[in-house]
Amino acid sequence: MTRISPVATALSLLVAAAVVLVAALPQPLEAQLPISKEHKYTGTGSCAASNCHGAKKPAAKPGDPDDTYTIWASKDKHNKAYNTLTKKESVAMAQKMKIAKATESDKCLGCHALYLSKEQMAPRAKYDVADGVSCDSCHGPAEKWLEGHDKGEKEWPHAKSVSLGMYDTKDVLKRAEQCVSCHLSIDAEMVAAGHPTMIFELDSFSQSQPPHWKDQKEWFGPLAWGTGQAVALRESADQLATRAKRNAPDKLVQESWDQTRGHAIALRALLAQVAAEAGKAVESQVAAIAEAMGKDKAKAASSASALAKTAGDLSKRLAQTKFTKDIVWTVLKAQVGDPERATSAGLRSAEQVAMAVDSLFRAVNAVAKPPEGKAIDAAIGKMFDELPTKPADFDAKKFTANLQNVAKNIK
Ligand code: HEC
Ligand code: HEC
Ligand code: HEC
Repeated sequence: MTRISPVATALSLLVAAAVVLVAALPQPLEAQLPISKEHKYTGTGSCAASNCHGAKKPAAKPGDPDDTYTIWASKDKHNKAYNTLTKKESVAMAQKMKIAKATESDKCLGCHALYLSKEQMAPRAKYDVADGVSCDSCHGPAEKWLEGHDKGEKEWPHAKSVSLGMYDTKDVLKRAEQCVSCHLSIDAEMVAAGHPTMIFELDSFSQSQPPHWKDQKEWFGPLAWGTGQAVALRESADQLATRAKRNAPDKLVQESWDQTRGHAIALRALLAQVAAEAGKAVESQVAAIAEAMGKDKAKAASSASALAKTAGDLSKRLAQTKFTKDIVWTVLKAQVGDPERATSAGLRSAEQVAMAVDSLFRAVNAVAKPPEGKAIDAAIGKMFDELPTKPADFDAKKFTANLQNVAKNIK
């Protein structure tokens, strides 16, 4: 598994004017956020001008909005998401699913592009489905805020754009929902046809996107990590419930279960610090699913739905949690201190623990620079290098040794 290069982290510490607004949450398993019916889309071409977000040179300061388009167009895989549908892997998947063309099917375009009908486009929209996952996919329909949103916070506050249809990606919970709506649940039939398994962790994936923004709020990385974990736990538990209910093949139910446990395992140490009661509820609901797995699909499904409900409530709470250095360090210590648990759902829990360690360490290292920082950083790198991509290739002993090697310097 590739680790996010620690160098990228300098960009990461955050800003967020948390403007709380109500937006429709995506329905579990409907994937991608709903396309707005209220406002029309303007297309990536309307953001790309060199005096808007398409500066030819990288901005002087990270987080300058001038080069956001340039970063997306040159470094962000989202811009290739449509192109992926033209590749032979996609053609093979489409064939198996009896879809004529992946590039024209809403089964694929919903996540791999911004897929619009004519009526959903603003009159002079500069829209091209081949732009893939583009500005409007994450920032929402710009018809009503395109003219004006660049006037500065005083004259045109962020909240004004949000009230006119912009998605509030500055809000950590909304951001997590946004990413997870494409990055976690996927129909069992697509996985069976060869779609890659989805693995998600908000902070790590934000770093590797890479970010075209600067989050400045203190301890934003751990906040994104924790909130993202709870949202991912909800979504994976919902997916497990659906697969169990619809009688998906055992292998796919098991995959969903491993994924769910992976998120629950990574979250546990945080819940012990900031939400102990909810932590116990999660543990007992996970135990109830474990008890029913392989014996009683209906019971597994109802227990998974109960866990999803707990995790959904938790995500709102974690998004409001105030992180401190003590909390982050304690949670980091707990993550590296229990290899048995970290490996108990195989690769799926190990990679979530590895990403948790990376995310939490990155945050502490940015502010506290512990003297053992270099050694810890190298040990984390080795742990990632030796993680396989397939669950069948996972070696729990090797991972345990690597995790212990990280733990050595975390006191
Ligand atoms: C509209 C759906 C959608 C949304 C919303 C979305 N993504 Fe993605 N993302 C994709 C698709 C599709 C790909 C695969 C691109 C490709 O074809 O390689 C992807 C790829 C990525 C990758 C590259 C993964 C790799 O294997 O290298 C990262 C990192 C990523 N997304 C992070 C995020 C983050 C962070 C968010 C939220 C801020 C987000 N994504 C929101 C659909 C989405
Ligand atoms: C629920 C959203 C969703 C749907 C629906 C979806 N994908 Fe994806 N797809 C993703 C995301 C997200 C990724 C990136 C995963 C990652 O790297 O972490 C991805 C990755 C891929 C990849 C691997 C890309 C790479 O760079 O390695 C292929 C191929 C692919 N999708 C094809 C398809 C096809 C074909 C369809 C329709 C039959 C489809 N996808 C439907 C979200 C989706
Ligand atoms: C995969 C999701 C995603 C895509 C695609 C995306 N963005 Fe963003 N963008 C975000 C997130 C998350 C943030 C951080 C929160 C915020 O500032 O709103 C952000 C922030 C920004 C900011 C604010 C920067 C700052 O530091 O204040 C600008 C400007 C921006 N994006 C422009 C664009 C443009 C232009 C495009 C298309 C070329 C684009 N974004 C595509 C997710 C995305």
